[in-house]
Amino acid sequence: MSAQWQVVEKIARDESNLSLRHLFAGDPERGQKFSLFCNDIFFDFSKQLVSENGLKALVGLASSAGVQERFQEMFNGAELNVTEHRSVGHVHLRSEGDSSMAVAAREQTERAIELAEAIRAARIVGFGGHAFSAIVSIGIGGSDLGNVLVADALEGWCNGPRCYFVSSIDPTHLDTVLTRNNLSPESTLFVVASKTFTTSETMHIANRARDWISDSLGIKAVPQHFVATTAAPKVAAEWGIANDRILEFFDWVGGRFSVSSVIGFPVIVSCGGEVFREFLRGMAVTDRYVLTTPLAQNAPVIHALLGVWNSSMRNHSSLAVIPYSHGLRRFPAFLQQLQTESNGKSVTVDGHQVPYPTSPAVWGEPGPAAQHSFFQMLHQGTNKICTDFIAVKRTSKIDENGQRLLFASMLAQSAALAFGKTKQEVAADGVSESLVGHRVLGGNKPNSCIVMPVLNAFTLGQLIAFYEHSVAVQGWIWNINSFDQWGVELGKVLTAKIEPVLMGKQSAEVDSSTAMLADWYLQQG
Ligand code: F6P
Repeated sequence: MSAQWQVVEKIARDESNLSLRHLFAGDPERGQKFSLFCNDIFFDFSKQLVSENGLKALVGLASSAGVQERFQEMFNGAELNVTEHRSVGHVHLRSEGDSSMAVAAREQTERAIELAEAIRAARIVGFGGHAFSAIVSIGIGGSDLGNVLVADALEGWCNGPRCYFVSSIDPTHLDTVLTRNNLSPESTLFVVASKTFTTSETMHIANRARDWISDSLGIKAVPQHFVATTAAPKVAAEWGIANDRILEFFDWVGGRFSVSSVIGFPVIVSCGGEVFREFLRGMAVTDRYVLTTPLAQNAPVIHALLGVWNSSMRNHSSLAVIPYSHGLRRFPAFLQQLQTESNGKSVTVDGHQVPYPTSPAVWGEPGPAAQHSFFQMLHQGTNKICTDFIAVKRTSKIDENGQRLLFASMLAQSAALAFGKTKQEVAADGVSESLVGHRVLGGNKPNSCIVMPVLNAFTLGQLIAFYEHSVAVQGWIWNINSFDQWGVELGKVLTAKIEPVLMGKQSAEVDSSTAMLADWYLQQG
């Protein structure tokens, strides 16, 4: 551990009894001092359990971990993903620069927009001459979650074919999407979204979709009803996608960092190329901001540092992400993969065991529902949970009162977590002595508020890039590789081994629990 890590750790120990009530009482300017703008995003971290001294030391930690240099390297296309020998290039997907990565990415984005606009204008139609009215995206993980988030958030801009998403190999998912929405093969376009084009769930669903088209329109219809977004164009072509329908991204784009690549094609068809360009511009302004803003004022860097502080120094192994915006309802699921698949690691870049906790578990639900569910646990439970509140002032053109109440709820929950309610305050309400303890809220629960004036393609792009950078910075500070995901491989190998057991082909090489459950499976009708 670096000397600066030890300095921060000592401050965390010395200041382990910080109280948010005292911090606020002792400094009327705390809100102003512990908040930053990142273009349209206003980040208030004053309700984090950190002193000015602690924050200063954390910025020193970012500096000693070489965060500024890593940013520079990432923007220069360096091979930061050392275990896969790949550059980390997602920032080039939205760059207006002239690096070879940016040029290659722009070329594919323009191809995607051209194809999407032709579909929107019905210059490209289905096999029987019908215009496409539905886009069904088939993909999983990073080839699904970002798109779902963006499609939901930009629903108000959808003026083309509607997008639907299928990610589960459970046949119910595809079937429900097709039947509940009355989709017809003649007017449905499938997009197979897969970086590798080998993910078993995705390919299984794609095969079923292909059967659905060919059973009703004939095998010759298939090329007209499928598009691929992939970094494996040859594999996509072998599967049967026509070359002019293969939109490419690159091995230097991690799946969970691919939302600004051609993976966004379904959204482009639905909302149009200009909306997607605006989304990319939003990401690019955050990119420029992180690259040019000093560490101490750099909001995504401070966000990352507080994540490290809470996880590694204060043992908060859980982060609830609570959007107060219906459009951002899938943000928790998106961030869950982005953060935990990136930073849920226990080995350093050079292969040593990390001596400190890394990523917290990330989870959450939209605020209005969450308040009537697990917020009880946030306020009075025994787990140490941090919270990121994300809110938008103007979520819609109608019902200003509802929107104000939504924002007020977020502020109220944030304050209640931070300051709680003491015994004396409860007793002062006239509560009988035997019930006082039940009504006390301990407070002192660290939380941040990340707020934006409106939700549109530009601000959504800024928000997603904000979190992408925060995740990357945390990885650099923890000295782990945020850009690989070796932990998910064993499950894939075991699935391949176990499936034959479920087909009745006996295999002795499974443990007794797996064997027992396989027997149970085989005995069912
Ligand atoms: O299994 C994990 C993973 O590789 C994720 O990292 C990725 O987002 C997802 O699977 C889907 O992969 P692909 O886009 O190659 O189908």
